[in-house]
Amino acid sequence: MRISVLGVGRLGASHAATLAALPGVSQLTVYDADPVRAKDVAAPLKARAVGTIDEAFKDAEAMVIVTPTDTHAPLIKRAIDQGLPTFCEKPIAIGIPETREIVDHVKRKNGRLQIGFQRRFDAGYRAARSELERGALGAVYSFLMVSCDRTPPPDAYIRSSGGQFKDQLIHDFDITRWLFGQEVVEVVATGSTKGVPQYEAMEDVGTSAVLVQLADGTLGLITGLRHNEAGYDIHVEIHAAKDTLAIGVDPRTPWRSVEADAARLAGPAYPSFFVRFGDAYTAELAHFLQFAAGQAENPCTAADALEALRIAEAAGRSWRERRPVALSEIG
Ligand SMILES: NC(=O)c1ccc[n+]([C@@H]2O[C@H](COP(=O)([O-])OP(=O)(O)OC[C@H]3O[C@@H](n4cnc5c(N)ncnc54)[C@H](O)[C@@H]3O)[C@@H](O)[C@H]2O)c1
Repeated sequence: MRISVLGVGRLGASHAATLAALPGVSQLTVYDADPVRAKDVAAPLKARAVGTIDEAFKDAEAMVIVTPTDTHAPLIKRAIDQGLPTFCEKPIAIGIPETREIVDHVKRKNGRLQIGFQRRFDAGYRAARSELERGALGAVYSFLMVSCDRTPPPDAYIRSSGGQFKDQLIHDFDITRWLFGQEVVEVVATGSTKGVPQYEAMEDVGTSAVLVQLADGTLGLITGLRHNEAGYDIHVEIHAAKDTLAIGVDPRTPWRSVEADAARLAGPAYPSFFVRFGDAYTAELAHFLQFAAGQAENPCTAADALEALRIAEAAGRSWRERRPVALSEIG
């Protein structure tokens, strides 16, 4: 299959390398607004770097979009209008109306669009989901989700990202729906710029906490921070009647525990998201190739992405207005 990758920055370069190594990719084309970057990424992969977006669209049989978030919507539309099965990184867009327009557009055109929420492909989350589906934990009462970047992303990235709730915690919002098979009905969010004071000018936060309530009354606390040199630490604890189950707690615990200090190994367990979710990104893109070939279901639809964004929107509103926000208030 002839695949074109649009945007080969931090994550796009990694996706291009993953695709180059997957069976079934007969031609890999990369395009980036920065032509030097496109050439640098393409060369070691023996991929084709092109200088215009038209060339990237010409001859493509499937499209992979990894450009900044504020460019996704028009690129998705163009790919869908050309009839291309399309993979796009999260989120679809920063705004709900724009996202809803893409959901409708894909439906109208009978298009195929897979969104990149890779935690759905992580072995730990998948194992936990099947335990939950089997009822192995009994009634779930509460959960804790922790998302730590190791170092803050570049300021230019933050500026076009939509902010911490829509950029970083959106993964937690998506995986909450996927893990528990339920919708979030209300959120209470707070945040601060502690540690990343420049976020104030961007009307963003660098540390946040979001209390979510699911339809059946389960409570979750989701915390996010942009700076924790212990590593890219993404973990979950599920507290239920019969047991407590954790996801993402590496045996080398990315953080220090006073009890485990003596046994601590040197260096962070997960230095970056490439390491923490390397296998998940590969599984996700391998699935996309199958989906594009018409051999697999869509594992993460535009409608799923809209729901995650609605939760992020509610969190942002709760933080700004200092009050609980019901999801029914959001579009
Ligand atoms: N799933 C995840 O875990 C995860 C992690 C990081 C980023 N992301 C998402 O991936 C996307 C890209 O993030 P990143 O960290 O790689 O950003 P980045 O800024 O490192 O890279 C973006 C690249 O796109 C290029 N670009 C900008 N506009 C373009 C256009 N119109 N056409 C082609 N190329 C263009 C830039 O030159 C740059 O090389 C974002 O939407 C982000 O939310 C997802």
